Amino acid sequence: MRFQPFSGRAGDQRCDCLVIGVHERGELGEQGRAVDRSMRGRVRALLARGDFSGRSGETLLLTDTVGVRAPRLLLVGLGALAQYNRRGWRRACATAVTALARTRCSSAAIALERPPARELDDYYFGRALAEIAATALYRINDLKSTRRPRPPALTRLAAGPVDAAGLTAARRGMDIGAAVGESASLVRNLGNLPSNVCTPRYLAQQAKRLAAQHRRVRVKILDEAAIRRQKMGCFLAVAQGSEEPPRFLVIQYRGARPSQAPVVLVGKGITFDTGGISLKDPPNMDEMKFDMCGAATVLGALDFAARSGLRLNVVGLVPTCDNMPSGRAVKPGDIVTSAAGLTVEILNTDAEGRLILCDALNYARRFNPQAVVDFATLTGACVIALGQHHSGVMSNDDALARELVEAGQRVDDRAWQLPLTEEYGEQLKSNFADFANVAGRDGGAITAAAFLGKFTRGLNWAHMDIAGTAYQGGANKGATGRPLPLVADFLVRRAGGARG
Ligand code: BES
Ligand code: MN
Ligand code: ZN
Repeated sequence: MRFQPFSGRAGDQRCDCLVIGVHERGELGEQGRAVDRSMRGRVRALLARGDFSGRSGETLLLTDTVGVRAPRLLLVGLGALAQYNRRGWRRACATAVTALARTRCSSAAIALERPPARELDDYYFGRALAEIAATALYRINDLKSTRRPRPPALTRLAAGPVDAAGLTAARRGMDIGAAVGESASLVRNLGNLPSNVCTPRYLAQQAKRLAAQHRRVRVKILDEAAIRRQKMGCFLAVAQGSEEPPRFLVIQYRGARPSQAPVVLVGKGITFDTGGISLKDPPNMDEMKFDMCGAATVLGALDFAARSGLRLNVVGLVPTCDNMPSGRAVKPGDIVTSAAGLTVEILNTDAEGRLILCDALNYARRFNPQAVVDFATLTGACVIALGQHHSGVMSNDDALARELVEAGQRVDDRAWQLPLTEEYGEQLKSNFADFANVAGRDGGAITAAAFLGKFTRGLNWAHMDIAGTAYQGGANKGATGRPLPLVADFLVRRAGGARG
C-alpha cells in the first residue's frame, strides 16, 4: 500500500473514490462542504432526504459523481459533532478503509474531518492513518481449506488535508505508520498460529528469516545444549516437560555505531501454556497458544526497526518453549538455579513466564543496554486490573515507565503504570530457596514484576504485562498486534526520530 498526504481541495484528488464525513445531524466539515458545493448541492440534498444518519460506523457509497475528479464518493458517519475527537476520527478512518476494501477501488482520498492539531499533529496524523489502514486491511492467517476471498484492490491511499508546511511530517508519519502496519501483521500472524505450527523451532526460523531479509539484522540461536551452557536453570525447568526442544533467540539490529548502548527487548515465548503440573482449567485453554505474543512483539519490533532504518542499536532476546505436564515436567516445590545464581522454589508451575524471563533478563546484562524492556502475557491478574484497554507497565525507573506510557498515548496503544515498590518483592519469600516464583493472588501482576525485578538490579528496566491487550477472545478471537505501535514510537524517539 502506498500512502500520500494531500493539500488543498479534496474534490481535486484524482482517484477512484473520495471519502468525506458526515455528522449525526447532517453537519458537514469544511472538506465536505467544499465537495458538496463542487457537486452542486447533491450531498446536502441526499442528507435532506434522510437517507444517511451520520452515525459512527455507517457508510454510503455514491457513484457517477459530478463536479469532483473521483467517480465515487463514500460518505462516512462521524457521530455527534460535539463528541467528535481523535477516537471518532480513528474509527471513521477504519470504517472508511473497511468499506473501500469491499469495492474494486484501487485508490482513494480520505478527507475526513481531522481532529484538532493539538490532539493529532501532521506526523501522528500520517502515522495513525497508515496504521489504521493496515489494521483494517489485515486478513487473519487462518488455515481454512475453502478458497480465499479476493483480496481488496486498494493500493493507493491519500489523506488530508495537510498544510503545505506539514506535508513532509505527514509523509514521514505515513512511512513509519506503514512500517508499523507491516510489522504488526507479522506479530498478529505469529500470535494466531497454533502451537503445533508455531513451535520454538518455528520462532527460531522466523528470526533467521529477519536476518535474511534485513542487512543490518544478525541472529544467533541457542539450542538446548547452549542454553544449558548458559546455566539458564529456570528456563530449562519450564522447558523440560515438553517433547519440543526449547530455543533462545538473540536478534541484533545494528542501526547505530557499535559503541552506542543498545535497547534490549525481551519477549516471553511460551508457545503453549498448559500450566504444567499445576494444570490450567479446560475453558479457553486454547488461548494459551497466544502465550508467545511477547516474543512476537519482539520479532515485530526488530522487523520494524530494520524496515524503518532506525539509527539505534536494538537487541531482541526470546526464550521460547512449551509449558507441559509430563513425567519429566518440573513439579511444585522443585528448586532450580537461575543463570544469575539465585535459587528459585517453583511453587506453581503455571507461573512459568517469569522463570523463562529471569534468565533472559540476566542475559541482557552482557549488552550494557541503555534500557531493557520485556513484554509478556504474564498474568491473569493484569487482565483483572486493567482489562483489555491498557497494557500494564512496571519499572524500576519511573522515567522509563513514563516514556512507555506516553508513547502509548501518542499512538492510541495505551499502557498504564502500576506501582512496583519493595513490599511486593518481600511477598516472594521461600523457606527453602532464595525466593518462590509466586506470592498469592493479591497484586498478582505486580508480584510477578517484582520477581523479575530481583534479576534486573542495576539495569534500566521496564516490564510490560500484555496479557489483556495482545489478543482478544470470543467471537473476535485473534492476536491484536499490540503493543507493537507503542514499542515502535518508543524506538523511533530513542533513535532521535525517523530517518528522513
Ligand atoms: N500465561 C499466563 C497468564 C495469562 C493468563 C495470560 C490469562 C493471559 C490470560 C501465565 O503463565 C500464568 O499462568 N500466570 C498465572 C500466575 C499465577 C500462577 C501466579 C496466572 O495469572 O494465573
Ligand atoms: Mn502459566
Ligand atoms: Zn504463561
